[in-house]
Amino acid sequence: MRVLIICGSPRKGNSENIASRLSSIFSGLGVENEIIFLRKHNVLPCEGCVEYCNKHYKCKHNDDMGGILKKILAADGLVLVSPNYFGMPPGIFKNFIDKCSVLYTKKYFTGKPDLSAKKAVVIAVGTDKPFLGEMIHNIKDNFLSTLGIETVATAEFITKSELKGNYNELFERDSSVLPMLKEMAEKLVKALS
Ligand SMILES: Cc1cc2nc3c(=O)[nH]c(=O)nc-3n(C[C@H](O)[C@H](O)[C@H](O)COP(=O)(O)O)c2cc1C
Repeated sequence: MRVLIICGSPRKGNSENIASRLSSIFSGLGVENEIIFLRKHNVLPCEGCVEYCNKHYKCKHNDDMGGILKKILAADGLVLVSPNYFGMPPGIFKNFIDKCSVLYTKKYFTGKPDLSAKKAVVIAVGTDKPFLGEMIHNIKDNFLSTLGIETVATAEFITKSELKGNYNELFERDSSVLPMLKEMAEKLVKALS
C-alpha cells in the first residue's frame, strides 16, 4: 500500500507540519508514503489549451506535473492538505488541481486511467472556521469526485501558529489533533485494505 501526501501551502507552515506528522503516522502503520510539497515544485498554470491535451492526453508543459501525475497513478491513497485562502486553496494548489484535468481528459476519451480504487483524505487549515468547509467541498466534491476518487475522511484545523511563531502550537494546544490524524490515517488504510 502506498500513500501520497500532497501539501498545498506556498510556505513552510501549519499544513506542512500536519503533512509531516501524518507521514510519520503512516510510517508507524507500516505504510509506504511520500510527501510532495508543491511549493518546492515547478507546476506551471494550466493554459486551457484543451485542444492539445484532448489530442495527446498529456500537458504540453514540460514541468514537474508529469512526475507528480505518475506518483498519483502509483499511489493507492491520497492525502491533500491545504491552507484556506478565501474558501479556496492557494494558487499553487489550484495550479496542481487544474493540471490533474489531464487524468480526466484521458479517462473521458480512453476509459483509462480508472481511479476509482483510490481513496482520499482532505485536510483544510485556516485561522478561522468560516469557509473551511467550503474549501473541503471544493476539493472533495468538485475535484476528487470528478476524477472518480472517493474521500473517506476530512478534517478542518484552526491554527494561529504563525501569529505565535511556533508551528507546533496546534499540537501543543490541542492534544486531540494527533489522535485525530491517526484516526484518519487508519480510516484510509482500512478503506484501501
Ligand atoms: C491570501 C490569504 C488568504 C487567506 N484567507 C483565509 C480565509 O479566508 N480564512 C481563514 O481562516 N484563513 C485565511 N488565511 C489564513 C491561512 O489559512 C492560515 O494562515 C493558514 O494557517 C495557513 O496555512 P499554512 O501555515 O499551512 O500556510 C489566508 C491567508 C492568506 C495568505
